[in-house]
Amino acid sequence: MASRLLCLGLVSVLLAYYIYTPLPDNIEEKWKATLLDVTFRSLGHVSNFAELLGIKHYMDVMMFLTYAENTEPTSDENVTVTDTLFNNVPVRLYIPKKSTEALKSGVIYIHGGGWCLGSAAMKPYDLLSRRTAQKLGAVVVSIEYRLAPRFQFPTQFDDVYTVVKFFLDKTILNKYSVDPDRVAVAGDSAGGNLAAAVAQQLLKDPEVNIKLKVQALIYPVLQDLDLHTPSYQENGKMPLLSSNLMVRFWCEYITTDRRLCEAMLSNRHIPLEAADLFKFVNWSSLLPEDLKKNHIYSPQFGHSEFVKKYPGILDERVSPLLAKDEQLKGLPLTYVITCMYDVLRDDGFMYVSRLKKMGVQVVHHHYDNTFHGILLLNNWPLDFQIAHHIEERYLNWLKENL
Ligand SMILES: *[C@@H]1O[C@H](CO)[C@@H](O)[C@H](O)[C@H]1NC(C)=O
Ligand SMILES: *[C@@H]1O[C@H](CO)[C@@H](O)[C@H](O)[C@H]1NC(C)=O
Repeated sequence: MASRLLCLGLVSVLLAYYIYTPLPDNIEEKWKATLLDVTFRSLGHVSNFAELLGIKHYMDVMMFLTYAENTEPTSDENVTVTDTLFNNVPVRLYIPKKSTEALKSGVIYIHGGGWCLGSAAMKPYDLLSRRTAQKLGAVVVSIEYRLAPRFQFPTQFDDVYTVVKFFLDKTILNKYSVDPDRVAVAGDSAGGNLAAAVAQQLLKDPEVNIKLKVQALIYPVLQDLDLHTPSYQENGKMPLLSSNLMVRFWCEYITTDRRLCEAMLSNRHIPLEAADLFKFVNWSSLLPEDLKKNHIYSPQFGHSEFVKKYPGILDERVSPLLAKDEQLKGLPLTYVITCMYDVLRDDGFMYVSRLKKMGVQVVHHHYDNTFHGILLLNNWPLDFQIAHHIEERYLNWLKENL
């Protein structure tokens, strides 16, 4: 009895400890956000613990969320949904049923989850793709790329690029009645990273003649050079994406060598020899004043072993912000979403600055009252009003511009 009471007491104290992590006052639906934060962080702790005991890899436990939200491809009255292969890569296809137009628009969607988690079949993504197809009358191709830790860079990028190239072909577009002048690539978080990388890569690919009309980057990950930007420093403990988890995603994407994680955590994974690249992520010049606050810009350097062993760290397909100015020219009309309480906020802002400087048309919607991953919270029991609001604005914009 006494030991049970003691257990209960301990659990209560632990819970209280979780719950009392204060969130900013202006966070929308703060109570729900706190509950979400507690639950998600608990799962993180369970994952850490399971890994520590050698039972399961951290990401294998975290994948529980992805499996729990798995959906079968189910058509409804408006959209036909099927799972199929595009050049051997699995995709989930959404085709609107009642199409008034002879030719439809096309949206290639890339889900998030830090290159390690998530799935096109996850309920939040399934709902988003379905509503995209319905609202825009668009054919949506949602890509089921392979994930880390089983697969590292460039597998994720290659899977996505394979699908994009397969789709951006006259015969295929014709088969699905998609207008070659109205194709977009879109993605959130790590999916936004892959979308941005794909859009850049297409510009230098002589085999693809069809141009994207739009890239939509939803709170994207865009660089691994500086993991201590003001947003990393300020939002490291915000809901859904802590700075520790983001660093873990980064190193899992690149290698199974856990020493890279440690170096990245202290932001000492880039050697002095690569100092020149910091101009592309110089938040001192690329961020608006109100986000810099009183942070001091001082890049840090470490041993050169990591970039030698894992050149992916400095690859533009991994960090689209490392593309040279010239390579940004010619990118399509760009839509960017950023959230205030997100470690990746500054990645988004810096890309917006650089794209605008190079004459790319950019529409940037910044939300100062919410956190990373909010678009996933679009269904019971975690249904956030603001998720619907952001989604609606995004889809309205896409409908008008695609
Ligand atoms: C199908 O579209 C109609 C009209 O837009 C809408 O009212 C209905 O809710 C949609 N059905 C589903 C299952 O989403
Ligand atoms: C970053 O930008 C500031 C100006 O805002 C400049 O003084 C500094 O030298 C730049 N640093 C790098 C590494 O480019």
